[in-house]
Amino acid sequence: MNILVVGNGGREHALAWKIAKSPLCANLFCAPGNAGTSSLATNVPIKVDQIDALVSFAKDNLIDLTVVGPELPLTLGIVDRFKSEGLACFGPTLLASRLEGSKAFAKDFMRRLSIPTAGFDVIDSREEAQFLFQKYGLPIVLKEDGLASGKGVFVCFSENEFYSALDRLFRSGNSKRNKKVVIEECLVGEEVSYLVICDGKDFVPLASSQDHKRLLDGDRGPNTGGMGAYSPAPVLTNRVETAIQNSVIKPLLRGMSEKGFEFRGLLYVGVMITKDGPKVLEFNVRFGDPETQPIMARLKSDIVPIFMKSVSGDLKNVSLEWDSRAAVCVVLASEGYPEFPKKGDKILGLDSVKDDDAIVFHAGTTKSNGSIAVNGGRVLGVTALGRDLRSAISKAYSVVDKIGWRGKIFRRDIGERGLTL
Ligand code: AMP
Ligand code: GLY
Repeated sequence: MNILVVGNGGREHALAWKIAKSPLCANLFCAPGNAGTSSLATNVPIKVDQIDALVSFAKDNLIDLTVVGPELPLTLGIVDRFKSEGLACFGPTLLASRLEGSKAFAKDFMRRLSIPTAGFDVIDSREEAQFLFQKYGLPIVLKEDGLASGKGVFVCFSENEFYSALDRLFRSGNSKRNKKVVIEECLVGEEVSYLVICDGKDFVPLASSQDHKRLLDGDRGPNTGGMGAYSPAPVLTNRVETAIQNSVIKPLLRGMSEKGFEFRGLLYVGVMITKDGPKVLEFNVRFGDPETQPIMARLKSDIVPIFMKSVSGDLKNVSLEWDSRAAVCVVLASEGYPEFPKKGDKILGLDSVKDDDAIVFHAGTTKSNGSIAVNGGRVLGVTALGRDLRSAISKAYSVVDKIGWRGKIFRRDIGERGLTL
C-alpha cells in the first residue's frame, strides 16, 4: 500500500515508525514530516492545512490510506474532501471534529447525552463571567471555544488569575459579541488520557497513558502541549475503564451516529477520575502528543489494518496486542517553550543512541547542512521501554543525557507520578 501521514510532530513520527513496520506498507510519505520521518518515509513539502494540495498529492501518487495527525486539517474537513474523491482517510469528518474544534459544542453535546463532565455555562462577555464567578467560586476554569493549541485553557486559583484570564480572553481586539468562552467548575482528581479508535459504531481501546501538561517539575508552570507521557497509567483500572466506556464512549458514539455525524477515527478523551467517578475534561479528535509515542512503542499489532477497518466501519471484534512492558517518553523542548522557543541550534549526540529499546522520535527538527537542527518548541521525544515503569524511566533519562544542544529543556520527573499511584 502507499500510505501518507499528515503532520510534522512527535506523534506523526511515532505513527510513521509504526506504519513503516507493517508488511502492508510499500511506500510511506509524510507531509510535511520532520528530520526523523525523513529516515523512514519520503517527506513531501505540503503543509497540513493545504487540503487541495494534499488531495492532489494523494491522487497523483495513488495513496491507498491517509492518516491525519493534527486537529487543524480535520476541523478544515480534510476527511470529507478525501472521501468525496474516493480516497481512504483515517479521521473524523468536519462535523464530527467539532468535538475538539468547539468546546461549547462538546459541552452542550455531553449535557444532552448526560455524559459526566464539569458543570459549565457558555458565555460571550466579560460581564457574564464576572457574574458567574459567584456561582462557581474558586478555583474556576475558563476555556476559549475554538482551537488554541493548548493555550486557551485557564485554571484559576485566585481572583487575580481569573481577571488576567478574562483580559486574555476578552481583550479589546478579541471582544466580538460572538466570541464564546466556556466557564466551568474545577474538577479534582487524577487525569488519564483514554484513546479509542472508532468506526462510527464500534471502538477498540488503546493502552492507557498519562500526560504531563505543565512545563516544570512537580506539575508547576504554564500548560504546554505535553512535556512527557507514560503508558500504562495505573490509575486506569479495569473498573474505571469500564465506567468510561459505558458512561462516555458508548453514549457518545450512539448519539453522534443518531445525529447524522458518526465518529470515525481516533477519539481522545481527557478524563479526570474524581471521587464521583470519571468525568470528561476534553475531547480531542486525533492522537495525543506525546501520548502516542509510548503507546506506539508498546503496540504489537499491525496498525495499518486497524486504520483501514476504522475507515470502512469494520472494527467489530478487533482487539489489539500490547507489549506488557512500560514505556516512558521524555520530551526535550527548546529554551523559551511554550511562548517563544528558540530555533537553529545543532543537535548533538543523536548518533550515540543505539539501544533497541529507546527510540528518539523527532518533533521540531530539520536537516541543515548535513546535521539535524532545532526547528520548534517540542524538539524530540525520547521513548524507552522497560520491564516496569521505574526501569523505563531510568532508561529514557540515560538517553536524554546523551543528547544535547544549547538551551535544551525537559522535566526530570516524567513518569514518577505513576510510581506513587
Ligand atoms: P483541556 O485542553 O480542556 O484538556 O485543558 C487542559 C488542561 O487543563 C487539562 O489537561 C486539565 O489539566 C486542566 N483542566 C481543564 N479543565 C479542567 C477542569 N474543569 N477542572 C480541572 N482542571 C481542568
Ligand atoms: N498531550 C495532549 C494532547 O495531545 O492534546
